[in-house]
Amino acid sequence: MQIEYKKTADLIPYINNPRNNSDAIDAVASSIKNFGFKVPIVIDNQNEIVTGHTRLLAAKKLNMENVPVIIADDLTESQVKAYRLADNKVFEISEWNDELLPLELEELAELNFDMEEFNFSMEELNDDNYKTTWDKIKENNIDSNLLDTFVVAPFSILDTRQGKWSERDKMWKSIGIKSEIGRDENLTFSKSLSNKSLTGTSIFNPTLTEIIYRWFTPDSNAEIIDPFAGGSVRGVIAKILGHNYTGIELRDEQVEANYNNAQEMGLEGITWHNDDSLNVSKYVEDGTKDLLIACPPYFDLEVYSDKEQDISNMGWLGFEEVYTEIMRKTARKLKPNRFAVVVISDVRDKKTGMYHDLVGVTKEAMKKEGFGFYNDMILINNAGSAAITARGSMKNRKVRRCHQNVLVFYNGIHSDIKKHFPELKNIEDFDFGQETETE
Ligand SMILES: C[S@@+](CC[C@H](N)C(=O)[O-])C[C@H]1O[C@@H](n2cnc3c(N)ncnc32)[C@H](O)[C@@H]1O
Repeated sequence: MQIEYKKTADLIPYINNPRNNSDAIDAVASSIKNFGFKVPIVIDNQNEIVTGHTRLLAAKKLNMENVPVIIADDLTESQVKAYRLADNKVFEISEWNDELLPLELEELAELNFDMEEFNFSMEELNDDNYKTTWDKIKENNIDSNLLDTFVVAPFSILDTRQGKWSERDKMWKSIGIKSEIGRDENLTFSKSLSNKSLTGTSIFNPTLTEIIYRWFTPDSNAEIIDPFAGGSVRGVIAKILGHNYTGIELRDEQVEANYNNAQEMGLEGITWHNDDSLNVSKYVEDGTKDLLIACPPYFDLEVYSDKEQDISNMGWLGFEEVYTEIMRKTARKLKPNRFAVVVISDVRDKKTGMYHDLVGVTKEAMKKEGFGFYNDMILINNAGSAAITARGSMKNRKVRRCHQNVLVFYNGIHSDIKKHFPELKNIEDFDFGQETETE
C-alpha cells in the first residue's frame, strides 16, 4: 500500500456521497491540527474520493495544499461503491465502552488535553460514581422532558426503586386508594414482589397502573377490561384518568371492599363484577374494549381463596387450561388495533424448584387470539426480604427473583399504531385533586 500526496484542490468529492458529516468537520480539523494527517484519503484512479470526504473538508478548512492519499486502483467500480457504504457502516456498529471511556477521558483531562474539541462532553465525566440512566435523565433537560410526558422513562426496565417512581406511588396513595383491603392478611400479594414503598401495604403498583393507562389507551375515554381485578387500584386510577373500567373478581369480599373504597373517594361509575372471569361474555361484548389490563394470580404463589373457580388453587395443568381460556375470552373483547398488558411472573414449582412458564403460556394464549408480542418490559422491585434469604438460596444456586414481567400485546399493524394512538403530551399540569373533581 503506497501513500502519495495529492493537491487538495484536485480531489473530487463523490457526488452521491450518502453520508452527511458536516457536523464532524471541526472535530476532524482539530484532530489533524493536533495529531497530523494520520489517515490518508482513499481515492480511485480518477481522483474521486472513495472514503475521506470529511478529512478533505477539514484539510480545506485548515488551508492544507496537499493531503496524503491511497489510490484504490485494485477495486472495481462496484467494489468502490460498496466499500464507500461499508466503511461508514462499520463505525455505526461499534460502541463506546461506558466504563473504559470515562477513565481514558479523565486521564487525558489530567494531562491537559481538551477533548471537548473532539466533541466529547466532559460534563458526563462528573466525579466519583457511576451514573445510572435515571441519573442522567434527571440531569439532562431534554431527557427530563421524557418524564414530563411519560411519567417515567419509557424504557424496557421499569424500576420501582427510583425516587421519582416512589414519589409518584406516594402521591397516588395519598388520595386514599386502599387496594390492600379485601384480602385475608396472610394473602398479601407476593411478599417479595409487592410494592413496599407504600408503608405497610401491598397493592398493585399505582404508578405502573398509571403508565399502562397513559401509554396504551387510545384516548382519555377508553373502555378498559380487567379479568382479575383484585384490589381497587386499577379501577380507581382508570376513573381518575377519565376511563371506563370494568373489572371481574371472583371474591365477593374483595368486590365489596373495592366499591367501599371508591365510595370513600367520591368516585362513581367504576364497575366490578363479582364472578368467575370465564363468564366475561355475560358482561362484555366482543370487540368493544380499548385496553385489556391483567394481573392474574401467579399460579399458586398466593392462593386467594378455596373457591372451585379460583385459578390460584388449581394444580398447574388446571391453572394453565383455565387461565388460557380466560385470557383468550377476554382478548376477544378488544377492538382491533388495541393493546393488552399483562403483569405476570414465572413462578417456581414448590416441589421441583423449577420455573413454570407463565410468561410463555400468556404469550401463547394471546397469539392464538391474533395478538403480536409488542413490548417486553421488566418491573424491578425492591430486593426486600430477598436480601435476607439470598445466602441460603444460593447454596442451591437459586437466584432470588426481584422482577416481574410486563408483557404488551397488540392486535394490529405496528406501523399504523400512530394512526390510532395520538402522540402523548406533557402531563405537567396533572393535578390529582382537580381531575378527581371533574369526574
Ligand atoms: C394477582 S391477584 C390480583 C391482585 C392485584 N394484582 C392486586 O394487587 O390487587 C388475582 C386476583 O384474581 C382473582 N381470581 C382468581 N381466579 C379468578 C377467576 N377465575 N375469575 C376471576 N378472578 C379470579 C383472585 O381472587 C385475585 O384477587
